[in-house]
Amino acid sequence: MEKSDNLYGRKRRRLATARAVLAAGLGLGGIAVAFAFGGEFPSKVPVPADNPMTPAKISLGKQLFFDPRLSLTGDVSCQTCHDVMSNGSDSLPLAFGVLGRVDTPRHPPSVFNAAFNTVQFWDGRANSLEAQAKGPILNPVEMGMPNAADVVKRLQEIPGYREEFRKVFGDKDPITFDHIAQAIATYERTLVTPDSPYDRYVKGDKTAISSDAQAGINIIRSFGCEACHAGPMFDNPGTPMGTGWFQKFPVQPHNPVCAKYVQKYHLTDDLGRFDVTHNPADKHFFKVPSWRNVALQAPYFQNGSVRTLQTAVRVMAACQLGQTLTDKQVTDIVSFLDSLTGKFPKETMPRLPETPNTTIMMDVSQLQKTAEKTEKK
Ligand code: HEC
Ligand code: HEC
Repeated sequence: MEKSDNLYGRKRRRLATARAVLAAGLGLGGIAVAFAFGGEFPSKVPVPADNPMTPAKISLGKQLFFDPRLSLTGDVSCQTCHDVMSNGSDSLPLAFGVLGRVDTPRHPPSVFNAAFNTVQFWDGRANSLEAQAKGPILNPVEMGMPNAADVVKRLQEIPGYREEFRKVFGDKDPITFDHIAQAIATYERTLVTPDSPYDRYVKGDKTAISSDAQAGINIIRSFGCEACHAGPMFDNPGTPMGTGWFQKFPVQPHNPVCAKYVQKYHLTDDLGRFDVTHNPADKHFFKVPSWRNVALQAPYFQNGSVRTLQTAVRVMAACQLGQTLTDKQVTDIVSFLDSLTGKFPKETMPRLPETPNTTIMMDVSQLQKTAEKTEKK
């Protein structure tokens, strides 16, 4: 065993722990991997070649994002669970969906900076924003539309959309489920939050973050949190788009401190990535979430079970690294995480195209019948 009361020894052991954890997670069997800590907010969002951004597509995507007519009941939109006037989430542990359903299994992550995620959802089951956007519309506990054809049909009944889709996607078959998803994804790529105090600090303004926050960086680095929370978004060490950076949580469920958290916050109920791959090695693996704006992301974790960032940090230290933090260490780490809150774009509500002289929404009995059918599926 390493004799290590001095800080250097502790530091080395902690980094070794983080690397061992990581190597185990990756199946790298003991290869030491050091990743870059942080870095300046990227100056450009990644844009797929087959879905270029144009002002008309952004504007259409924004309308669709706000339009509750994309839901079965006509009262749930993307905005309902991802409030772009505030933190891009709903601040509830688990989201409310159509027909008052409260059984969405997970907490909504923010749509701000989702454009930088290499995969979407806590379990990474969508490999792009385009693929992601189709999920909630057809999900029976979110927006509850029965199928893609019904979504397309509903938008075709709205004259303004017929016109706008033609402008953006051309005359041949302009309204398709793919085009709906492409437009929404394009709007989401505008939802970025650069210029946090930390970014100004990285650029050389050493007074941009407090001395507590600077101490926080040293503590985080000595523990090796960046073994998982690496790179400028603090979510992966440069993983290519579409692939995903997954890590186990909790790594040390039997650590006595972690075990208490596991019980209190139900940290082992969700099998995570396993639900997608059905590979037993993927049990309890999740996409490593970004630390950008994490101060605004409460409640924390995939099940929204932890109310404060202070507790989330203690849980991470215990369950991922087997460490118990002092109050001062928690304060410093949280000060640093607070410095990652960026500048949010000023969002305004879009005007939605009307259906003059009529409504396209279902009457109540028809709605009930469709809802029953959708739920049974
Ligand atoms: C009823 C609430 C609800 C509605 C409505 C909803 N979402 Fe979500 N969203 C969620 C939840 C919950 C998750 C996480 C689910 C999971 O990971 O399994 C999520 C995940 C996401 C993610 C992934 C972010 C990340 O960091 O992984 C994006 C992007 C997103 N939603 C965009 C949208 C868009 C676009 C719409 C409209 C088409 C929409 N959502 C509608 C609740 C909702
Ligand atoms: C072994 C990989 C790993 C290490 C090391 C690690 N994390 Fe995490 N972190 C994750 C994963 C995976 C999640 C998502 C867990 C979930 O919600 O199911 C996460 C989630 C978080 C969250 C909650 C984010 C949110 O939006 O809910 C915070 C805060 C956090 N980590 C901070 C830290 C800190 C601080 C450290 C170092 C003390 C650390 N992490 C070390 C993998 C790791």
